[in-house]
Amino acid sequence: MIIYAAKDYQDMSRKAANIMSAQIIMKPDAVLGLATGSTPVGMYRQLVEWYNKGDLDFSRISSVNLDEYRGLSGDNEQSYRYFMNTNLFDHVNIDKSRTFVPNGLEEDSDKACADYNEIIRSMGGVDIQLLGIGGNGHIGFNEPGDVFEKETHVVDLTESTIQANSRFFESMDEVPKQAYTMGIKNIMAARKILLVATGAAKAQALYDSLYGPITPNVPASILQLHNDVTVVADEDALSLIREKGLL
Ligand code: F6R
Repeated sequence: MIIYAAKDYQDMSRKAANIMSAQIIMKPDAVLGLATGSTPVGMYRQLVEWYNKGDLDFSRISSVNLDEYRGLSGDNEQSYRYFMNTNLFDHVNIDKSRTFVPNGLEEDSDKACADYNEIIRSMGGVDIQLLGIGGNGHIGFNEPGDVFEKETHVVDLTESTIQANSRFFESMDEVPKQAYTMGIKNIMAARKILLVATGAAKAQALYDSLYGPITPNVPASILQLHNDVTVVADEDALSLIREKGLL
């Protein structure tokens, strides 16, 4: 595992974008595993900037995203498809028909999950998987639990997540109660993993994930068993690891 310390959010975004760019340049038909959330927004902005300068070409790139809310269509502003379009895909020359997120509108959850696993397999697997991390150590929508869920599955969102999301919707009824997410096995099958983290709220989760016991109670701790993980985190997120003298 390699850990790059960034001085702040902007530095983290730039360093992460450098790693993603290297992948795109070295393998122009790479399969990128992508994430949403606030952490990678700056990295996507940087990639768009380099694309506009003519330094990056997405024309042969494919992508698969980690997760999607169940019941939301891609044009719903809260969907992860919408997030990807507005933060990256609409601004670069990627072929959108080769960008995938789980199908939030598929009512048959077994089918939605099996289809998504098949998409990942048919693409020949993921070359680099980008991950953010939750304050509780979650990756994708793989929340702390008793077991590591293997492949794409449907999850019930916790009451606190539903509450937190409700501010984006007109009524509680519209807030998604479930999501589709890649499982730990899908994530661990990626050839490389790039984990990004920013802010003191991630310090405990980052320390537990990188140096604590490997347990489904801290889903990201499984990454200790992957042989090609790069972490790019800012000083706030690394603060506990520094305090313990591990960096
Ligand atoms: C996003 C995802 C989530 C986020 C995590 C951190 O697709 O799967 O696991 O990466 O919740 O979110 P932020 O970056 O908003 O702190």
